[in-house]
Amino acid sequence: MTLEASLRTAVGSEHVLLDSALRASYETDWTGRFSGISRAVVRPTSTAEVAQVVRACADARVPVVVQGGNTGLVGGSVPARDSGNHPPVLLTTSRLTELGAVSGLSRQVTVGAGVTLAALAAHARAAGLDFGVDLAARDSATAGGMVATNAGGIRVLRHGSMREQVAGAEAVLIDGRIISRLDGLAKDSTGYDLGHLLAGSEGTLAVITRLRLRLVAAEPERAVALIAVRGAAEAVDLLASFRPRLPGLCAAELSFENGLRLVASHLGIGVPLPRAGGAYVLVEVAGQSDPMDDLLAALEASEQVLDATVASSVADRARLWQLREGHTEATSASGVPVKLDVSVPIGRLAELVERLPGTVATAAPGAELVAFGHLAEANLHVNVLGAAGSAELVTAAVLSLVAKLGGSISSEHGVGQAKARWLGLSRTPDEIEVMRSVKAAFDPLGLLNPHVLLPATH
Ligand code: FAD
Ligand code: MLT
Ligand code: ZN
Repeated sequence: MTLEASLRTAVGSEHVLLDSALRASYETDWTGRFSGISRAVVRPTSTAEVAQVVRACADARVPVVVQGGNTGLVGGSVPARDSGNHPPVLLTTSRLTELGAVSGLSRQVTVGAGVTLAALAAHARAAGLDFGVDLAARDSATAGGMVATNAGGIRVLRHGSMREQVAGAEAVLIDGRIISRLDGLAKDSTGYDLGHLLAGSEGTLAVITRLRLRLVAAEPERAVALIAVRGAAEAVDLLASFRPRLPGLCAAELSFENGLRLVASHLGIGVPLPRAGGAYVLVEVAGQSDPMDDLLAALEASEQVLDATVASSVADRARLWQLREGHTEATSASGVPVKLDVSVPIGRLAELVERLPGTVATAAPGAELVAFGHLAEANLHVNVLGAAGSAELVTAAVLSLVAKLGGSISSEHGVGQAKARWLGLSRTPDEIEVMRSVKAAFDPLGLLNPHVLLPATH
């Protein structure tokens, strides 16, 4: 039996896409920078079907690329450009959309890996709880993709990254075996935690099919402020003064003058607090009671504030948030940017911000640097526009600077295919060797996302 026939038997012929026009939207990533040909796009609807699909691929020695919402920014969810002569099967989790009953007692829920963040959060809120992680791609990013990338987002300072939300996982190995621990026991010390090992694995170890996720208390009362400060150092000091004063602080997002102007012109809106500062911090405070007075008191008491505007209504808060969340689209509107996602120790953030313009100008003279990010994690998104021709040079220069400052080449987006060759800047040769052994234990044939995360050996 051909592989295509086995795939049809597993999921039904209408869910095996062979026609290139039907496959196209799955084969290019969100940035438009990464794309490759697949042999087929396959849409299983259960763990059992996923097992049949990957087993058929393993028997045929055909690689498998796993895809969730395809909002990843490092090319991990699409085939490699040079996959032409051995195209992989692209397995999408888009039909794994189970929403299990919310447990108010354990504050947990079991969901299919293909459930979007927006659907998961709405499901939790309908039960009087909430989900701790949030990010601007919420309408498309999936639970499985967010665990596979260990996504961060805008609420990490309050609830942690995706790894911290995982109470259990079910996944399929390349040979079709299923590992499943969805009981969500609060305490369980029986050896290696395979569920957590899958967090950040970027589709290289197993296909996540279901997740047991922790939920958090709903915090209906919120207040937001956009604050102008002199620069990155003052932003860090502002955060240090706010944290003890605002126990409900749940977001602290950093942006800069040129990024705000780019977003405002892209959205056709005005920039609040124009030219008030070199850097801007957007903070959100949440709780069971209205936090606005506490926020105003913290603003009053802080020496770093040059100017600020606050919002409490849903519409006004959304208006301020779009200025921050609009950066990704605005930077991608004028061509394919070099997108880097780095973090440094918070005490070195100001130094990174200071040294970046020179580093970028040397690697790509005339290119425009747009930086923004998550202040509390000192996680900076370094976007370089108009440098398509020197993407490798810019990437090498920026990541080497970050490594010198004791930082990570990937803070929340993952390594993907975009940064695999630079993994050695954040991981030692021994660490990479152990990671290869872990990969070999899960996927001895090396068929799962072979172009992702680990640097090529040949
Ligand atoms: P995909 O892009 O489909 O896949 C991502 C990786 O996970 C790939 O390597 C894929 O092979 C693997 N994978 C997917 N599903 C599975 C599965 N079921 N089993 C095993 N492996 C799997 N990221 C952040 O961290 N923070 C942000 O604030 C943030 N904001 C964003 C804003 C915008 C506008 C956009 C476009 C993206 C943003 N991202 C952000 C990036 C992206 O949304 C995250 O990386 C997200 O986790 C990807 O989820 P996905 O379902 O789209 O995964
Ligand atoms: C963000 O924080 O906006 C995202 O991680 C996306 C990006 O880096 O563009
Ligand atoms: Zn981010």
